[in-house]
Amino acid sequence: MNTRLLIAAAGLGERLGGRRPKALVPLMGRPLLLRTLDRFREAGLTEGVVLVPPGWGDGFSTILAGRGLRLVEGGTRRQDSVGHGLAALDDDAEVVVIHDAARPFVSVEAIRASIEAAVAFGAATVAIPSIDTILEGDAEGFLQSTPERSRLWACQTPQTFRVEVIREAHRRATAEGFEGTDDASLVRRMGGRVKLVMGSRHNLKITLPEDLRLAEAMVREELA
Ligand code: CTP
Ligand code: MG
Repeated sequence: MNTRLLIAAAGLGERLGGRRPKALVPLMGRPLLLRTLDRFREAGLTEGVVLVPPGWGDGFSTILAGRGLRLVEGGTRRQDSVGHGLAALDDDAEVVVIHDAARPFVSVEAIRASIEAAVAFGAATVAIPSIDTILEGDAEGFLQSTPERSRLWACQTPQTFRVEVIREAHRRATAEGFEGTDDASLVRRMGGRVKLVMGSRHNLKITLPEDLRLAEAMVREELA
């Protein structure tokens, strides 16, 4: 099936310091975005790639020159950015792999497994079983409940979908004023099945300055 890549890169990276868009932050000399794209190139996803940078992301065109990516300006929330990207996919796109620019260590195996699962089931997200006990708190800061850990997964990307499935999920979320922090949840919300695909702790999202330190160590030690 025609499989296209959509990279969400329109975040401001505020928790990282916000001096420049997070996707452009260098990790051992190479911007996160380029490291992320390297992994997808290895997986064979180079055709019709849609990249969603922030409005002020001038630096993007420079580092991406000659790669033939389609740049589509992002929105205020991640969901808006992905929505803009979905609207810009090639007409013949059948499957879309949605990935955060901020996860440069995604493995080729996880990318391939998510595509296979999306082809089979319509929707898939990479995720890892929770190693922490997760507590649900109430509005006053007291423990509300403790969901059984064996059923909890930490969400990662890629999240991969048949194009018509994720477009319909976004359309409904927008119509109903719902905001999610990921895309697979929008599919589930409309009753769709989403396959959980095993990820890895190496596939971390660079969010805080200490994540960057850890990521540097991972590159140095060739751990991911
Ligand atoms: N993202 C996006 N559009 C937004 C917000 C986020 O495309 N309006 C993307 C980010 O670029 C990132 C991914 O979604 O690749 C995950 O978001 P997050 O880790 O929160 O990144 P930022 O929003 O950049 O960071 P922060 O929240 O600290 O500002
Ligand atoms: Mg954010």
